[in-house]
Amino acid sequence: MNTANVRMVAAPDGMPVVDRKEEGRRKPLVEVREQPTQATRVPAQTVGRATVDDPVMTTRHVNVFYGDKQAITDVSLDIARNEVFAMIGPSGCGKSTFIRCLNRMNDTIESARVEGAITLDGQDIYERRQDVVALRARVGMVFQKPNPFPKSIYDNVAYGPRIHGLADHRIELDEIVQTSLKNAGLWDEVKDRLQAPGTSLSGGQQQRLCIARAMAVSPDVILMDEPCSALDPIATARIEDLMDELRQNYAIVIVTHSLQQAARVSGRTAYFHLGHLVEVGDTDRIFTNPRHKLTEDYITGRFG
Ligand SMILES: Nc1ncnc2c1ncn2[C@@H]1O[C@H](COP(=O)(O)OP(=O)(O)O)[C@@H](O)[C@H]1O
Ligand SMILES: [Mg+2]
Repeated sequence: MNTANVRMVAAPDGMPVVDRKEEGRRKPLVEVREQPTQATRVPAQTVGRATVDDPVMTTRHVNVFYGDKQAITDVSLDIARNEVFAMIGPSGCGKSTFIRCLNRMNDTIESARVEGAITLDGQDIYERRQDVVALRARVGMVFQKPNPFPKSIYDNVAYGPRIHGLADHRIELDEIVQTSLKNAGLWDEVKDRLQAPGTSLSGGQQQRLCIARAMAVSPDVILMDEPCSALDPIATARIEDLMDELRQNYAIVIVTHSLQQAARVSGRTAYFHLGHLVEVGDTDRIFTNPRHKLTEDYITGRFG
């Protein structure tokens, strides 16, 4: 039985009292199925301010379809510079679909179709001239499962700078690799074994290696889709600590199913529901004073 829309009410007069416990209430409880009310429907417009004054990315009226099935409906949202922006919502609400729009990863899914306008520094990233490889260097991505290349630790980080021609000499490349590993909080653990395979590291180290790899090409934005869900609590804490430092240089967009994590790491939070952006605002405000019933139900654990 789905208990979500069921509440207990007093039975009509005349029904027998079945339980001593119920005698005090005079009437036994029976189930009534409630129709969803207006308040539990997605709002016609996103609640809260979805725009910022100096955005690094903007999205306007974004719709995404997989074949005939619509997964994202009319989402408009800005990402600010130097912020950690969290996206939360129940499984299947479109968080991954939406974050993949931001660096055109949905291009790799044959049935996916993206409508609307998405800009990076004012430039339309879906225009025909856009070089998608260059875009993904500027909007890097870290996935749920760490996915180092089957290469050495060094070559994992050097890969991007090499293909984008960012270093003319070995010494410059060494410098980029070292800085990226330091900024990812991994240098001290790997500096003596840079030629070891990336896959020889622990899960948490591999995820920091993937973050270093994303940073090595000096992106503007780093997208993270549930980056800690395959990690233990200690490895998770290290990544969370890292995010605040990363924010000094990048905008970070993180999808997380952990409300505690969203509350700890982000400055703004967006709540998605059935492909709609229900509410967005400062993380403190969203968690202490949600304005929409669906947001409130989700963050208080009544849904999802
Ligand atoms: N590659 C795909 N092909 C078809 N449908 C998909 C695909 N990826 C996701 N979907 C559907 O799109 C909706 C949103 O999924 P997703 O973006 O993965 O949500 P979330 O990340 O919030 O769990 C779901 O109904 C899901 O089944
Ligand atoms: Mg997902």
